[in-house]
Amino acid sequence: MRILLLTHSFNSLTQRLFCALSERGHLLSVEFDIADAVAEEAVALLRPDLIVAPYLRRAIPESIWSRHRCLIVHPGIVGDRGPSALDWAISARRPEWGVTVLQAEAEMDAGPVWAAETFPLRAARKSSVYRNEVTEAALRAVLTAVERCQAGDFVPQRVPGQAHALMVQADRALDWTRMTTAELLARLDAADGVPGVADELFGQPCQLFDAWPEATLQGEPGALLGRRAGAVLRATADGALWLGHVRRAGGIKLPATQAFAEAASLPELPLPGWWKSPTPTWQDIAYEEAGGVGFLSFEFYNGAMSTEQCRRLTEAFRWASGRPTRVIVLRGGSDFWSNGIHLNTIEAADSPADESWANINAIDDLAEAILRCRTQLTVAALGGNAGAGGCFLARAADQVWVRDGVMLNPHYRNMGNLYGSEFWTYLLPPRVGADGARAIMQRRLPMTAAESVALGFYDACLPGPGFTVDVARRAAELAADPAFPARLAAKAERRAADEAAKPLAVWRAEELAEMRRNFYGFDPSYHVARYHFVSRSPHSWTPRHLARHRDLDWKVPR
Ligand code: COA
Repeated sequence: MRILLLTHSFNSLTQRLFCALSERGHLLSVEFDIADAVAEEAVALLRPDLIVAPYLRRAIPESIWSRHRCLIVHPGIVGDRGPSALDWAISARRPEWGVTVLQAEAEMDAGPVWAAETFPLRAARKSSVYRNEVTEAALRAVLTAVERCQAGDFVPQRVPGQAHALMVQADRALDWTRMTTAELLARLDAADGVPGVADELFGQPCQLFDAWPEATLQGEPGALLGRRAGAVLRATADGALWLGHVRRAGGIKLPATQAFAEAASLPELPLPGWWKSPTPTWQDIAYEEAGGVGFLSFEFYNGAMSTEQCRRLTEAFRWASGRPTRVIVLRGGSDFWSNGIHLNTIEAADSPADESWANINAIDDLAEAILRCRTQLTVAALGGNAGAGGCFLARAADQVWVRDGVMLNPHYRNMGNLYGSEFWTYLLPPRVGADGARAIMQRRLPMTAAESVALGFYDACLPGPGFTVDVARRAAELAADPAFPARLAAKAERRAADEAAKPLAVWRAEELAEMRRNFYGFDPSYHVARYHFVSRSPHSWTPRHLARHRDLDWKVPR
């Protein structure tokens, strides 16, 4: 089938559907929902058999749904209608939720149902539920719906439903003196990553994000108690919550201590070291050990790694490599492994060019520390998505194991033609060949976990359920392998041979020479793209590599 994905953006769910439907032999093209006339033009050019709308923020025009079958992915159970579907479900901490694929009609989400899936609803952030449970359920439901469309004998049924309202800030309001930690967290989770909860810090209005419960520290309800690694701690009626990120009026999302200079006056509440705290608290870098394996987690919001975070993680990695272990597993965070340098903290810096330079050097230092590690075998275990430099930082490890379902974007050019560093020029071509590397960088398309292994870029794709347990088992086997000393010696030899052929410092200098041009050169594309990315500016066109129907030589296949 020729399928048009009509979507607000090419987000991770849309990417997942794009890959899964393409794999099944369908011809996919993408158009961003910019204006009715643009969508109509896309439909006229592609003449699709089916239109799928994975992520829309407004209704499809009647001119399209009245003439073409349009399937809407609604993040709610059958009968649920209207906006803020996930927000209402999470704030009510419903035990089960789902995804419904229904046909577009005049009334929002009221059309006949083509497929539906349900899942147990985790007590987690909206963005996390969306990237995991919703995405998996949507994939299953869309594939079923597409098969049913193709089979031609399925009659979708109308179901009675109840439309709920758009959740507004009044519905999300927080009362720090009266509400418990659990009540506040449910509201904050339901609003994370978008739109956040409107509140105040230091007497100034802002939106709150990235909340983490604190198990031991307490204080006067509503009072700010301290700070740690970008986050501030605020007392609730029965405990306290860490707030990692905020957006001030007219600003962008930033670590709370960066957004508010006043936070410097709060007492610092450091953790004693890198070991994972035995009780819940805010800890962005946490280390655990079992059976000769060290596990290093880095829970960085949105997978973005600032200069400061890269430096702290490098310090933690160096410390971990001094431990009496045989394997270090780099676990990343729960939703993202890494999305490369932190574009928001860069944007907010006095000199974004200087901060870009500091950040890329800090992430390269981390990649280099991993590449030069002689004491352990290293494994990057990608349980969450990775993009741009994050994909190559993972490749710096000796082995990369990736959870089936993870979406990868191992390319940089979408960010204003950024050249990229993280030793990708050293790490990628030996894995996929020079032509393969060029194709990955130029095509700028997402890659599934299975594809990354089939191409030889990563080493193993492990099933989604049980990934963490599987990784721990495989890492323990690696540590217990009688051939371990020989493997470690072989790794040192390989590194020495590579170093003799071309030192890491030269690879790095070559990449950074290009990056210097991106940051300081006459072409401002990277700065412009970064500004629009962090401001979440609506798209004003669909990139050509996605809108295939806009290729100049596009012809409707017979
Ligand atoms: N720096 C800061 N924030 C980042 C980020 C980065 N490198 N990468 C992602 N984010 C943020 C987004 O701004 C968004 O923020 P929100 O909470 O305000 O919505 C959030 O992470 C999720 O990103 P989104 O683009 O919605 O997720 P996705 O899963 O649909 O797409 C990527 C994933 C990786 C394709 C996309 O986020 C991306 O292109 N990131 C930039 C990668 C990059 O160029 N890094 C710099 C070069 S190393």
